[in-house]
Parts: sequence; structure tokens; C-alpha cells
Amino acid sequence: MRRKLVVANRKMHGTIPGNKAFLEGLLERTKEYRDSEYAVCLPHPYLYQAQSILTGTPIAWGGQNMSRNDDGPYTGSVSARMLVEFGCGYVIIGHSERRLRGQDSDNSVGERFQVATRAGLKPIFCMGETLEEFEQGLTDLVTIRQLNAVIQQIGIKNLAKGVLAYEPIWAIGTGEAASPEHAQTILHFLRGYLILKDTEVGNNIRILYGGSLKAQNAAQLFGMPDIDGGLVGSASLNTEEFVEICQAANLSS
Ligand code: PGA
Repeated sequence: MRRKLVVANRKMHGTIPGNKAFLEGLLERTKEYRDSEYAVCLPHPYLYQAQSILTGTPIAWGGQNMSRNDDGPYTGSVSARMLVEFGCGYVIIGHSERRLRGQDSDNSVGERFQVATRAGLKPIFCMGETLEEFEQGLTDLVTIRQLNAVIQQIGIKNLAKGVLAYEPIWAIGTGEAASPEHAQTILHFLRGYLILKDTEVGNNIRILYGGSLKAQNAAQLFGMPDIDGGLVGSASLNTEEFVEICQAANLSS
């Protein structure tokens, strides 16, 4: 049985007082929703704050990227070990906002996956197609290409150390989520592909949906059999709304 996981991707948002209100509010308001799991991915300067507030609670936290290198002359970068020192359980890798700016490629995401798992972090590995690719019916090809690049580097067994997230680029930040049927079709296809490679990994790995997931569409999306939770951007900036999404995940767990 796969437990639902809801992850807030707060992107480059937040202030110290705003994060405090969000994290404390989330802790308080999700006390009764214990059938699902929750995590918050914050900008690096706020990880210490997350660690202070969330240590010893059921809510996990993580970074939004990390370097492929351990230490060294990489100005502006943060290593996996540093994330672990600040108590992170997760790290988002391969987000389209980085891929599209050339800061990540299929290969670099594979390397990051490996470095993250070696350090004890659970990577949340993002995949997804552009609008043009979607319109040309290339979603399957693109997501499989992105997935294979990682499997080639780490092996199918190690994929189980992470979480997958299907995030169609045309749905991110647009207010227009993929329909639950579309998301289910793709996740079912991806899971089926993994099952062919390794039954246990395919059946047990969590695959999230991301892209304009909000309180309004969460229950329908989470009701789909292959959708194991969500990666939530804009709607995680509002505590009330994010709590409603957590509640929807809990109800469908
Ligand atoms: P969104 O972002 O919920 O604002 O569409 C999701 C994401 O980028 O992970």
C-alpha cells in the first residue's frame, strides 16, 4: 500500500515570519490527518528555520536543488551533505523551471539522483512535457526518455530510493491542471513501464502529480489509483489551501 505524499514546492517565495506562520499552521492543522505524509521544500536559507520548527514532528522538509559535487570551488552551490546537516529528508531534482533554463539536463538529473540517495536524501525527480510536445502526442516518449536517463545511471533498484513526479510543463503555474484522466493515464503508463523492469519497484514507487494542483481539484486527482500525492507550487503559498490539499490526500489514503 503506497501512502499518499503531499509536497509543498515553495519555490523562491517566503520570509522568516511568513514561513513561521505557514509551518506552525501546517503542523497544527494537519494533526488529525495522519494517514498521509507531508513535506515542505523551501529555499536554502530557510532550511535552518524549518529544522528548528519541524524537528520531532511528522512533517518532513527538503531543498529544491543541490550540487552534484561534494565540496569545492562551486560558488553559490549547496551540497547534499549540507542539506542532510539541516535535517532535510527530500530534495527536488530536475524541476522544469531549472531544465528550461539549461541548469539541468536528463544526464545531470541522473547524477543528482545518485548523489542525493548516497547522502541519504530522497530525491523528488520531476518529469514532464512542454505544451508543444503534449499537442504532438509526445508525452509518453518525453517522460520515458527522462526516466530512462536516470535509470541508466542509477539502476532500476535504486530508483526506489526516490519519488517520481509527473509535472506537465503546460500545467505549471498556469491555473490549468491536467485532467485527472490524463494524469492517471500517464502515471499508469509510467508505472507499467517500471513494473516490466522490476515488479516490486514499479508497484511500490510513489508517483506524484504536479501542475496547478489546488484545493479545488485535489480530491479528484488523488482519487486516481496511480496518483500517490502531489507536488504543489502556488497553492502551497496559502496555508488554508495547502491544508485542504493535505486533507484531500488524507481522505483518499
Ligand atoms: P504550480 O507549481 O502548483 O504552481 O503549478 C507546481 C510545481 O512547479 O512544482
